[in-house]
Amino acid sequence: MEKFYITTAIDYVNAPPHIGHAYEKIASDVIFRHYRQRGIPGFFLIGTDEHGIKIQKTANEKDVTPQDFCDEIAAKFIKEWELLDIKYNRFIRTTENDHKRVVQHIFKTLTDKGDIYKASYTGLYCTGCECFLNERELDENGLCPDHKTKPQEIKEENYFFRLSRYKDRIKDHIKANPGFILPEYRASEVLNQLKNVEDISISRSKESVSWGIPVPGDDSQIIYVWIDALSNYLTGIGYLNNPELYEKFWSADCHMIGKDILKFHAIYWTAILMGMEIPLPKTIYAHGWITVDQSKMSKSLGNVIAPSTILDSFELKSPDSLRYFLITTTTFGNDGNYSDEDFKNKVNADLANNLGNLLNRSLSMLVKYFDGNIPAEGVTSSENNELAKLAEKTRQSVIESIDNYRLALAAESIISFVDSANKYINEQVPWTLAKNDETKIQCAQVLYNVLESLRHVSVLIYPYVPSIAQDMREQLGLEGKVCDILLDDLQWGELQPGKIASKDSIKPVFLRLDSELAGEKKKK
Ligand code: ME8
Ligand code: MG
Repeated sequence: MEKFYITTAIDYVNAPPHIGHAYEKIASDVIFRHYRQRGIPGFFLIGTDEHGIKIQKTANEKDVTPQDFCDEIAAKFIKEWELLDIKYNRFIRTTENDHKRVVQHIFKTLTDKGDIYKASYTGLYCTGCECFLNERELDENGLCPDHKTKPQEIKEENYFFRLSRYKDRIKDHIKANPGFILPEYRASEVLNQLKNVEDISISRSKESVSWGIPVPGDDSQIIYVWIDALSNYLTGIGYLNNPELYEKFWSADCHMIGKDILKFHAIYWTAILMGMEIPLPKTIYAHGWITVDQSKMSKSLGNVIAPSTILDSFELKSPDSLRYFLITTTTFGNDGNYSDEDFKNKVNADLANNLGNLLNRSLSMLVKYFDGNIPAEGVTSSENNELAKLAEKTRQSVIESIDNYRLALAAESIISFVDSANKYINEQVPWTLAKNDETKIQCAQVLYNVLESLRHVSVLIYPYVPSIAQDMREQLGLEGKVCDILLDDLQWGELQPGKIASKDSIKPVFLRLDSELAGEKKKK
C-alpha cells in the first residue's frame, strides 16, 4: 500500500452530533492511526453536509439564516471531534467555495456528456432521507420506513441523471471486486437495489429548495443535495483546486459510512465517478448502527446522547475509554449498543483491572525489589521467550485484522495478550523469586518480560486509546511519542537497563469508572 485516503460520511447539521456519528469517526480514526503506524502516508477527511431542504427548514424554524445555523452546528461537530481526539486532515463543509466549484464542474461535465437531461416529474420526497421514495419502499402506512414520516408529493420540472446507463457497469464492477463493498454480505443488498434503478432527479426548483448550489447556467434550479454531498470526497482531496494533493491521494481507499446510506455511495456515487471517468474508490465500508439501551436514538424518545455527555457524566478527562468501548462493543460491521452499565463494566475489566493493573503492579515490584532499576542481567532476549513470541504474534494479528476491518477483533487480540502476561506473572510468582539471592535475577527477568510486553501493548493499542498508550510509555520511563513508533520497528528488547520508575512516578493509566457518578449526573 503506497498511501491511504479514508473519508467518513459528512454529517447533516440539522441536529448536533451523537454517539452514532462518533462511532463512525472513531472507527475511521483508529484505522487511520493504524496505517500511520505502518508508515503509510495518509489523508483523513471528515466534515459536514450543510445544504438541502432539511437544513433550510430547521434554520427557518429557529428563525436564523441557514448559514448562521450551519456555522453554529458545524462548530459543535468540530468541538466534539476534538474532545474525542479524532485526528483528521481536513474538516470539509459543503458551504465552502472550493466545494461549490467542484459540484458545478461535475454537473456541467455530466451535462456536456449527455448524462443529464430535463424532464417533469412527480414523486414522493422524504426530507429525512433527502430523496424520492418509491411506493414499494414505504411501510404499510405509507410512511418512510426509516423516518416514520409521510413523504411529500412533489411535481416539478427537474434535471435528471441517466443513472440507468451505468447499471450494468456497476453490477459488473461489484461482482468483479469483492472488496468494493464491505462487509461482503452487503454487496447482494446493493445488487438487489440495482435491479430497480431508474434515472434520478438531480435538481430541485429554487422555490422548493433555495439552500444549495445552483445548477450552472440555470439559476432557477438547485443541485440535489446528495450530488452535492457525495462530491465532498473529491473536493476534500483537492480535485480541481490542489492537483498535487489530488494526484497523491485519489482514489479513496475507504469511504466509511453507515449502512443506511450505502445505496447513495455504491450506486449514485459510483455512477457519477464512472460518468466523470474518475477512478473508483477501493472500498465502501457500511458499518452498523449504535443503539442506546437497545433503542434507536431519536428526538422523540429523548435518548440521543452526545459523546461529551458521557465524558462529563463519568468525569472523564480523556475520551479513550469511550473510544475503546464503542469500537469493542460489537463485531465491526454489525449493530452495537451503548449502555452506561456495559460501558463501565467493559472498560473497568479491560483497561483498569487487566491492562492498568498489570502495569501498576509490575512497576511497583520493580521499585520494591530493584529500586525502580532494570538490572542488566534482567534484560531478556526473544529466544525461547513465551511472551516475546506472543508479542510478535499479536502484532501480526493486529495488522491482519485491521487490513480486514476487524477492529473489535484486533483490540481483543491485544487484550488477550495482556491476559496472558497477567497469567504469566501469577505463575512465575516474582514476589517469591525476589526473596532469595539465587532467584533475584530470575525475578528481574520476569518483570522485564512483563514490562516489555506492556511496551508492545502500548504501541499496538495506541490507535484505540492514544492518551492511555502515551501514559503507558511514560510510565515505562521511555521518551518520545508512542504515535511515532512504527509497527515494523516493534521488536523485543527496547527497554534498557537503568532506572525507569520510582515510588512517586507510578500512576494508574486508567481509573476505574464509578457507575453511581453517571446515574447522579443524569438525574440532575
Ligand atoms: O446521512 N449509529 O448524514 P447523517 C451509527 N449527510 N452510525 C450512525 C448512527 C447510529 N445510531 N446515526 C447516524 C447523512 N449514523 C448524509 C451523509 S455522505 C456523502 C452524506 C451515521 O448525519 C450514518 O449512517 O444522517 C452516516 O454514515 C453518518 O452517521 C451521518 O449521518
Ligand atoms: Mg441520517
